Amino acid sequence: MSKLRKYRIVVLPGDGIGREVIPEAVKVLKAVGEAVNLDFEFVEFPCGGEYYLKTGLEWPEDAWQTCKESDAILFGAVGWVKNGQPIRLPNEDLAGSNVIFSLRFGLDLYANVRPVKLYPGVPSLLAYKESEHIDFVFVRENTEDIYVPIRGMLSRGEEKELAIDVRVITRKGAERVIRYAFNLCVKRGKGAPLDKKLRVTCVDKSNLLRGCQLFREIYNMVAEEFPQVEKDYMYVDTMAMQMVCFPEKFDVVVSPNMFGDILTDLGAALQGGLGMAPSGNIGDKHAMFEPVHGSSPDIAGQEKANPIAAILAAKMMLEWLFEKRKDQKCKKGAELIEKAVKKVLKEGKIRTFDLCYGPYSNVKPSKTSEVGDAIVEEIKHEV
Ligand code: IPM
Ligand code: MN
Repeated sequence: MSKLRKYRIVVLPGDGIGREVIPEAVKVLKAVGEAVNLDFEFVEFPCGGEYYLKTGLEWPEDAWQTCKESDAILFGAVGWVKNGQPIRLPNEDLAGSNVIFSLRFGLDLYANVRPVKLYPGVPSLLAYKESEHIDFVFVRENTEDIYVPIRGMLSRGEEKELAIDVRVITRKGAERVIRYAFNLCVKRGKGAPLDKKLRVTCVDKSNLLRGCQLFREIYNMVAEEFPQVEKDYMYVDTMAMQMVCFPEKFDVVVSPNMFGDILTDLGAALQGGLGMAPSGNIGDKHAMFEPVHGSSPDIAGQEKANPIAAILAAKMMLEWLFEKRKDQKCKKGAELIEKAVKKVLKEGKIRTFDLCYGPYSNVKPSKTSEVGDAIVEEIKHEV
């Protein structure tokens, strides 16, 4: 059978458990490729803190350009420790972090899309909330706010005395990510679990911060274009409480960068932990997909890490490729992954240690690769 299209995927496993979970995601993509006749070419580069220790570089010199020319990027995690201390560049940045920021800023990946969905078979960490209550998408602005490299440290003699991080919110940055969130809400089409209403919640601190006042003003402007979507406002501190008390009220949530960074780790807890939380860093031309979790030096090298976040990130990659290329095979591939993950979780026998709690506390924890294998087997059965 002829293969219609070859997708060139850059794979950046990075540090720690990134190097354990990304091979599982690639394994699953290969199985999907077989199942629906999709042809992938995987181009892998080393990167991160350990690579920096060996080479003095955070990633090879040609890696960024190759990412730019690829169809999509699959990323693991960066950041490593030596003698209990994080490995840093001479300028104090965490070694490896510039890989993420060169991609997010350099490829203008302005929407960090983080689904918060509790799958059946993952016991809820919240009493009285089940999978039917937890299904929303967090859209975190990804190119500005306090992550812009406008910062400084001042010393008086030997002592660090003053530190400044500048928070930047621009009209363009806010407008495009807010419009992305509204479009996503309409496209998703299912509304909030509570009332099935289409709703975009604007999370900010506009009772105080000027950047947030601008963000909210632009939210109101963009919302005018979407009369079918309910407007909703939440201050970030209240949001932390509401995500725990009433997660069923949310459909799509949009916020500036740092609030989204913090709240999506809380979102991961609603899904059963960081091992279940995928993300897509999406721009108009390029996109990079990664698990929300980091390199986890505490469990690295023990075959313990949950690969599902990385596998669901690969699923999001196929969904994005479908949107870009209108290639039905990508859509079918994403559906196959979703079904297979659901089945494995629901059966409940194969799961990594992080999911062996509550009713599953007597299950013997599986290895990372056993979870990947079980998902691959399901994909083969589905077709
Ligand atoms: C994330 C991470 C990164 C961020 C770190 C590693 C720089 O926490 O993707 O959420 O803050 O964006
Ligand atoms: Mn984070």
